[in-house]
Amino acid sequence: MLQIKNLHAGVENKEILKGVNLEVKAGEIHAIMGPNGSGKSTLSAVISGNENFEVSQGSVTFLNEDISELDPEERAHKGVFLSFQYPVEIPGVSVTNFIKTAINENRKAKGLKDMPASEMLKLIKSKADLLEIDRKFLSRSLNEGFSGGEKKRNEIFQMAMLDPKLAILDETDSGLDIDALKIVANGVNKLKSKDNAVIIITHYQRLLDYIIPDFVHVLIDGKIVKSGTKELAYELEEKGYDWIKEELV
Ligand SMILES: Nc1ncnc2c1ncn2[C@@H]1O[C@H](COP(=O)(O)OP(=O)(O)OP(=O)(O)O)[C@@H](O)[C@H]1O
Ligand SMILES: [Mg+2]
Repeated sequence: MLQIKNLHAGVENKEILKGVNLEVKAGEIHAIMGPNGSGKSTLSAVISGNENFEVSQGSVTFLNEDISELDPEERAHKGVFLSFQYPVEIPGVSVTNFIKTAINENRKAKGLKDMPASEMLKLIKSKADLLEIDRKFLSRSLNEGFSGGEKKRNEIFQMAMLDPKLAILDETDSGLDIDALKIVANGVNKLKSKDNAVIIITHYQRLLDYIIPDFVHVLIDGKIVKSGTKELAYELEEKGYDWIKEELV
């Protein structure tokens, strides 16, 4: 589904990603861990097409198509979803209206008409029920005064509604408490299928007790320096990152 080859990217004169290789197949969950500032959020931003970062080398292929030149909206329309580590507030736009617009934009890009209101309502209802989201929450202004857990709930709701092929969840330093952690985990587990894939960025092995990853990768200084299964996450929790850095020299 996603192939990243020798990806180098950065800002202005600073190289942040220094040759990332990663392959994600349909049906898989990949966890990316790594120290602060190692480039995890940059990697997710580059995959989703954030124009603040410049790709200097390498390629990003999604569903057998090189998407390096596509803008973020085009990538989203192809099925890439990125949750934000720091979500934006949009006063006056409700959770529901935001998602309606996103879905209809997506349909428009595919040459489809707006989703009929009744169908939209049904979809919203079924996804809200699935994720145990309160109706009142859906009419609140997007992210305005949302608690950390509510932001997560909203993100997972967006993900459920958009039904992406590839979801990238950047959970880093978002201060997830146990409940928010479970919201994310339940959401991912309920939405998981053999046709989609998830990349989850996290600092804590704890999240991976609820979402079992097929692979765990360690990103250090702009490179994936180690990959393994969930056992690797336990090892990191116990030993930190220094031992990997030592292996590298
Ligand atoms: N727009 C930018 N301008 C300058 N430097 C940047 C920019 N974005 C990221 N960086 C730098 O790139 C490095 C990697 O940042 P990134 O946010 O990808 O790290 P991270 O692995 O997600 O860290 P954390 O675990 O703290 O979330 C950091 O040193 C950061 O300061
Ligand atoms: Mg980050």
